[in-house]
Amino acid sequence: MTRHSNIHIISILYLISVFDTVMSIKIKKMWCIMQVSKRVLQLKDSPLRKLTPLIEAKKKEGKTFIHFNIGQPDLETPQCFFDAIQNFKGNNVPYAPSLGIPPLIEAIQGYFKHQGISFKSNEIIVTTGSSEAIFFVMNAICDPFDEVLIPEPYYVNTVSFMKQLDVVVKGIPTYASDRYHLPSMQDIETHITPRTKAMLLTHPNNPTGTVYSEYEMEMLKEIAIKHHLYLVVDEVYTGIVYDQIPSRSFASLEDLDDHVVIIDSVSKRYSSCGARIGAIASRNHNLMKEIGKLAQARLSAPTLEQIGAVALYNIAPSFIKKTAEIYECRRNVMVNALKDIEGIHVSVPEGAFYCLVDTPFHSAEAFALWCVEHFHVNHESIVVAPAQDFYSNPKSGAHQIRLAFVHDVVVLEKGLNLLKEAIKQYTFVQKGINV
Ligand SMILES: Cc1ncc(COP(=O)(O)O)c(C=O)c1O
Repeated sequence: MTRHSNIHIISILYLISVFDTVMSIKIKKMWCIMQVSKRVLQLKDSPLRKLTPLIEAKKKEGKTFIHFNIGQPDLETPQCFFDAIQNFKGNNVPYAPSLGIPPLIEAIQGYFKHQGISFKSNEIIVTTGSSEAIFFVMNAICDPFDEVLIPEPYYVNTVSFMKQLDVVVKGIPTYASDRYHLPSMQDIETHITPRTKAMLLTHPNNPTGTVYSEYEMEMLKEIAIKHHLYLVVDEVYTGIVYDQIPSRSFASLEDLDDHVVIIDSVSKRYSSCGARIGAIASRNHNLMKEIGKLAQARLSAPTLEQIGAVALYNIAPSFIKKTAEIYECRRNVMVNALKDIEGIHVSVPEGAFYCLVDTPFHSAEAFALWCVEHFHVNHESIVVAPAQDFYSNPKSGAHQIRLAFVHDVVVLEKGLNLLKEAIKQYTFVQKGINV
């Protein structure tokens, strides 16, 4: 081939590639194909909320639902929260300090003090709910492809945060037969690799209601020290424990100051989900300094809600005890009703306000959808949360549903009767029998 024909071919190839680029841009413009990141594409809709559009459509048709799917407490937000915000005297709502307003940091210190735990003011950062707290902590601890151990089934949104940070979740399997308590230290250690940075726990656990024993806490401490791991503990359900099980914060573990990071929030204990106030507490000053930069970049957590949260954190601990008694009564109602339903198994929760239930169905997700779409008694139905996304291997939880007991006893009983009927009817549907 001559030099001329070579140049000719290269020119043609160049023109083709330019044409290709121009055309693909034109096609994208023509069809409005705007690109989004691969990172968001790998995220899933929240299993707790993805039925919402269908539920809304059904409500417009006159169907009503008892919601067992979302862990939003129905109890009244304490009046002191509203009073504190109403007493705000300014004529402008300013940004708050990035790390939180001093009275709130002081109130959070006071809350821990009641548990015999001491945090200095620079060891607490106020966040926009515990969701932001988890995101900040993981962002500050992990680089992409680092690994975090999480007992599974787990709180599903945590995994979404990890994916956003390209952090790898390593599930530590736990089982209903052990009431979802942890496996042995040796078992847990098999999941640790040179890339493991942290263990992340929810205590008491969502969705299992497991409250870790003294023995488990000491074991986790030993693992954290031996393998130089952070122990990040989401304690948003602290105090909501049953059967007089002691509720101890991981912050009370000694000789673990650099390892332990506590995540907290007003959402659950004080029935204040929409306030969006949470906190990070840790004695690891280096880590807190770095998290401080993330807090600065988002300017501040909501100012007025922080003022309201001061009042919440200052409430006497007896309030939380009374709240736990209300949930304990509801738990008993739910567990007893569930034990009465043929074909299902429930692991009795020790804390938080969820029951994780084994159904007889291969796809609890299909059952949840059927309840919304087809099932009703006098135009009333239920919404349950399928549990498959609470596991790293969805097959593990494909037959499970999570039920939140965040209704008064009358509504709970009505909802559980509906569930009983739904399970009966769906069993027939599965067998191809018309109902
Ligand atoms: C274990 C756990 N952590 C965090 C959250 C989110 O809490 P927040 O409202 O403080 O962001 C929830 C909400 O259900 C939860 O169950």
